[in-house]
Amino acid sequence: MKLRRGLGFPLRNFDVMPRDSRPIGVFDSGIGGLSVLKHLMQTMPHERFVYLGDTARVPYGNRSTETVKSYARQCSAFLLQHDVKLIVVACNTVSAVALDELRKELSVPVIGVIEPAAREAASSTSSRHIGVIGTRATINSEAYTHAIIQHGDLHVHSRACPLLVPLVEEGWLDTAATRAIIEEYLRPLIAQQIDTLVLGCTHYPLLTPVLTDMYPDVRLVDCGQWTAAEAALIVGDHADEQPSIPMVDIYVTDATPTFNLVASRFLGMPVNEPVVVTIDSLPTSVERIS
Ligand code: DGL
Repeated sequence: MKLRRGLGFPLRNFDVMPRDSRPIGVFDSGIGGLSVLKHLMQTMPHERFVYLGDTARVPYGNRSTETVKSYARQCSAFLLQHDVKLIVVACNTVSAVALDELRKELSVPVIGVIEPAAREAASSTSSRHIGVIGTRATINSEAYTHAIIQHGDLHVHSRACPLLVPLVEEGWLDTAATRAIIEEYLRPLIAQQIDTLVLGCTHYPLLTPVLTDMYPDVRLVDCGQWTAAEAALIVGDHADEQPSIPMVDIYVTDATPTFNLVASRFLGMPVNEPVVVTIDSLPTSVERIS
């Protein structure tokens, strides 16, 4: 594999794409991936995006690997129907358990959020002790641990924090209860002298202010930021050739009543009404998408 430098450690080598006006496809188990889309739009304001949030089946984080893989295939197939040139798996859980299969099965490049975040964490730690928090499925997969230790003699301390997703969705971003739960989850990681903490779930970047306040000496790694940087390297900089207003079509598999409120928190700006696609109408077969 040829390697390219650019973000600290070498990147996987994808050929930089020639100018291609097709959109970039992004999917997540729900609305959390909008925290990744936010960085993609900021980094590539001249691109078009198609986002699918599987709001009917969220959360994925406590489901079995096989179920997550089958959902991920359907979401990817839907995006390919929209003629996307690249798929960004904006979900840590899917990136942890299904990325290799998607890369084998799909006809366009696929990037996940774990490798870019792992690379950034490895290049920024001084203590060589890195904390990782995520859903049960992400932590049980040990995908972050494997991705981080590839970069050297590093110690990874990880913990599933399933209560943080509902807290963030409720907007409890800095309450006494939130602080107590964070403290309980992070105590063993802090005891290991971590100086870097990977926010290995789409929802956790919204907790950045409270985490920074509680642990000012710990560097937080937001996977969306580093995934966007990697995606930009792959699609190339064609800013001079394209309009600089990012355009996004948002699809969801269920119109949840609080979508607009919660989604705008993740995206950091007002969100247009999403288009609903029912799960029954999603493509089911990988043959249709190869
Ligand atoms: N998007 C998921 C992740 O980043 C969190 C929500 C879920 O469990 O589906 O892991």
